[in-house]
Amino acid sequence: MSLDIRPVAPADVDAIAALARVIWQDAYADIISAAQIDYMLDQRYNAPRLLAELAKPGYWWDQACIDGERVGFLSCLLTDTPGEIKLDKLYVLPQRQRRGVGGALIARAVAHGLAAGCDTLILAVNKGNARAIAAYEKHGFAIRDGVRVDIGGGFVMDDFIMARSIR
Ligand SMILES: CC(C)(COP(=O)(O)OP(=O)(O)OC[C@H]1O[C@@H](n2cnc3c(N)ncnc32)[C@H](O)[C@@H]1OP(=O)(O)O)[C@@H](O)C(=O)NCCC(=O)NCCS
Repeated sequence: MSLDIRPVAPADVDAIAALARVIWQDAYADIISAAQIDYMLDQRYNAPRLLAELAKPGYWWDQACIDGERVGFLSCLLTDTPGEIKLDKLYVLPQRQRRGVGGALIARAVAHGLAAGCDTLILAVNKGNARAIAAYEKHGFAIRDGVRVDIGGGFVMDDFIMARSIR
């Protein structure tokens, strides 16, 4: 297996949005409603937003490919807290999970954080997303807080904030 992680390019945004839809429908079908999945995908993966994030300083998008097939991606960003980077998105195709791709993507987020002088990597994960919470615990994160965020459209996100040191 040849795993390659490289930056997402503007030409990739439609493929990333399509990949997100496949992974979200598997990951969130039992956690949030189909309407909330559609709402959040439209809100977060529309082409203008992705293109803007690709061009933004302090923002990173990377994609993972196995033998040339795109199987996952991450995005991360510097937060307003000095020394802190946030893993904003981490998604791997269901049939490619549990082979270390998520861990390799987290390692890439750690590398971005270290290069930017950060010491802490944080993320938000749905409280019902046991699979992802287990993966994050395996990769050194611990629950730091719980938050409920109104995301509009009548929807809320009920998340844990998890954090790990990257030094
Ligand atoms: C979270 C995610 C990115 C991890 O990716 P991955 O490639 O499977 O990660 P790794 O192979 O590095 O680590 C997998 C670890 O996660 C945990 N894990 C994964 N699936 C699990 C499951 N069904 N039950 C229990 N633990 C599980 C285990 O600790 C596993 O390690 P193991 O296989 O050695 O037991 C992936 O599960 C995913 O894309 N999930 C759906 C999308 C999602 O929820 N993303 C996070 C949004 S905050």
